[in-house]
Amino acid sequence: MPLPPQLQRAIEQETGRHPSKALSQAAAELSEAYRTGHLGSGAFLTTELHRLAYAAVRLPATFAAVRAVLAAVRRLLPERPLTSLLDLGAGPGTVGWAATEIFAGLEAATLIEADTGLIALGKALAQTGEHALLEQARWVQGDLRGLTAFTPCDLVVSSYALGELGEEAASAVLRAAWAATSQVLLVVEPGTVRGFALIRRLRDELIAVGAHLIAPCPHHEDCPLPAGDWCHFSQRLERSRLHQRLKEVALGYEDEKFSYVAVARHPLQPAPARILRHPLRHAGHTELQLCTPTGLQTVTVTRSNKAGWKEARKAEWGDEWRGGG
Ligand SMILES: C[S@@+](CC[C@H](N)C(=O)[O-])C[C@H]1O[C@@H](n2cnc3c(N)ncnc32)[C@H](O)[C@@H]1O
Repeated sequence: MPLPPQLQRAIEQETGRHPSKALSQAAAELSEAYRTGHLGSGAFLTTELHRLAYAAVRLPATFAAVRAVLAAVRRLLPERPLTSLLDLGAGPGTVGWAATEIFAGLEAATLIEADTGLIALGKALAQTGEHALLEQARWVQGDLRGLTAFTPCDLVVSSYALGELGEEAASAVLRAAWAATSQVLLVVEPGTVRGFALIRRLRDELIAVGAHLIAPCPHHEDCPLPAGDWCHFSQRLERSRLHQRLKEVALGYEDEKFSYVAVARHPLQPAPARILRHPLRHAGHTELQLCTPTGLQTVTVTRSNKAGWKEARKAEWGDEWRGGG
């Protein structure tokens, strides 16, 4: 998945004002911070170079993850338009860009972010003349940990941000986010053991306050994954030339792993099952690892299951599964 071309051009314009070598160095420092988990409260994005490096090498990945999740959510929503967006820990506005691609009816966006430099970058990136939603977005500078209420919105999203807050603060922000959710609340985190542990805990907290799960779980029961396993998905994204240059890599793509939970204010029909691993395709059958309302299941789909066979041939890790056993 490539970035929207206007966003890619805007990132190139902003990064183009700085020497490539300094940006590469900042990108390497970001990668190191992610690798070692030393991220604490966004403190790793403190210089202009680090913010620009984030836009060039991390935003494409978080964009790809959020876009994939929003698309999965839209497939399960009735044809009711979502008109307002609230983004918590917005960074340079990644979620707004993904949301405009999936929910064309969005008319207003409120983006909350602690870092004034990222807000300035997000505003600059949005000035492409393409999306009124992004150009006219309301940016609010503030620390999520000090905010107890948010403007109610149809779609509330926090992407790769709650994990930077600490456990108690993340739960408090989640409660306020849910209170502000008119229709859908979505939390996305890195697809790591740690990222999933947070998602699993937030999922339980959301169920406890009466939220209706949309995805990825096809049920409201306890998560059936055993200790040591983690529910995560993967999205392939194209690396732009700029991305490749700053990361000093030749490969033209990378796979972003993410975990998420999406809930709705009103009850919805969840998918009957979700595919938890890459399907294993063989000549006469496909094997699927599924999460279902009765727990984890491995199903083998053969040609005799006509509808299921067709679906299984194109099924991907992370998709809903409707083809039966
Ligand atoms: C990894 S970035 C994710 C940015 C964006 N949501 C994305 O998906 O690309 C995390 C963001 O959360 C913001 N953040 C972290 N702690 C925060 C807090 N306490 N209040 C507001 N924003 C915060 C950081 O400044 C940073 O912009």
